[in-house]
Amino acid sequence: MKAIETTGLCKQFKGKKMTRVDALKSLDLQIEKGEVFGFLGPNGAGKSTTIKLIMGLLKPTAGTASIMGKDSSTTDSRRQVGFLPENPAFYDYLSAEEYITFVGSQFSMESSLLKRRTEDVLKRLDLWEARKRPMRGYSKGMVQRVGLAQTLVHDPDVYILDEPMSGLDPIGRALVKDIILDLKRRGKCVFFSTHITDDVEKVCDRVGVIVKGSLVAVDRVENIMRSGVEGYLVHLRFQDSASRNFAGIEPLRTAGSTSEFYVSCSAFNAFMGEVNAAGVEVALVETKRRDLEDFFLSLVNKP
Ligand SMILES: Nc1ncnc2c1ncn2[C@@H]1O[C@H](COP(=O)(O)OP(=O)(O)O)[C@@H](O)[C@H]1O
Ligand SMILES: [Mg+2]
Repeated sequence: MKAIETTGLCKQFKGKKMTRVDALKSLDLQIEKGEVFGFLGPNGAGKSTTIKLIMGLLKPTAGTASIMGKDSSTTDSRRQVGFLPENPAFYDYLSAEEYITFVGSQFSMESSLLKRRTEDVLKRLDLWEARKRPMRGYSKGMVQRVGLAQTLVHDPDVYILDEPMSGLDPIGRALVKDIILDLKRRGKCVFFSTHITDDVEKVCDRVGVIVKGSLVAVDRVENIMRSGVEGYLVHLRFQDSASRNFAGIEPLRTAGSTSEFYVSCSAFNAFMGEVNAAGVEVALVETKRRDLEDFFLSLVNKP
């Protein structure tokens, strides 16, 4: 059984003047238990639509979705899920503590456990100091953190998070990554969307890229990273200040006795052979790779 599965999942919206918007075109996706999956795509690609379909908040035009083998149209499918919607908004006269307690109570948790878990998640998300204040006084980042806290309180096995890092400062983003890695260590499944490639690099097992309602790539992050090495920046230190060319490659820049060369993968052996033969000191070799941002752009720009 898959943690999350979609088969031929489609969603059409009615647009202006009788037009139709194909927000999602036949999505087939299988997410394993214990897997962290990053759902990456630009704004308007269909990420939130997919998530709403999986959560049973929208009805598909065609196809099916399920969570832990239970069809998304059933309430049962949502019992083992922590869900963070895009732009979460809460009853803002409640305090974070009241709200998290309310959410936990919906999952029929025993009261002493609920109290302990509420305390745990409020502390984990750095909301402990503010826990008694009404949420109307919270910053956007704090509201986002309450949104995450309410996914954690009942300790579900599957997490579906729509842009969990959005609206957070760098410390907040790092905290969310930490929480996702924690969940992964504990064998939980996390499916999260983002339009920022940096968000997926350190935390995901696999990444799916969605563009204009179609899944254009699914792969392990490390495969994308490994296949992306394009060349090397080699820093050479010369005894005499005269910098030279090697294998016909001229330095990009020279500062003092050090010169920096861009060497493509195919030229690397010849370049290093000449450097070694000349007895020049190699100060540093940096790998230049095609990063996920470029990978993503290359897919987006495909006709
Ligand atoms: N309720 C709706 N009615 C009409 N069009 C919609 C609706 N919701 C989303 N869309 C359209 O569907 C496409 C995908 O939107 P969305 O899933 O929100 O993208 P993402 O979350 O990747 O930014 C967009 O073109 C958007 O304008
Ligand atoms: Mg969205």
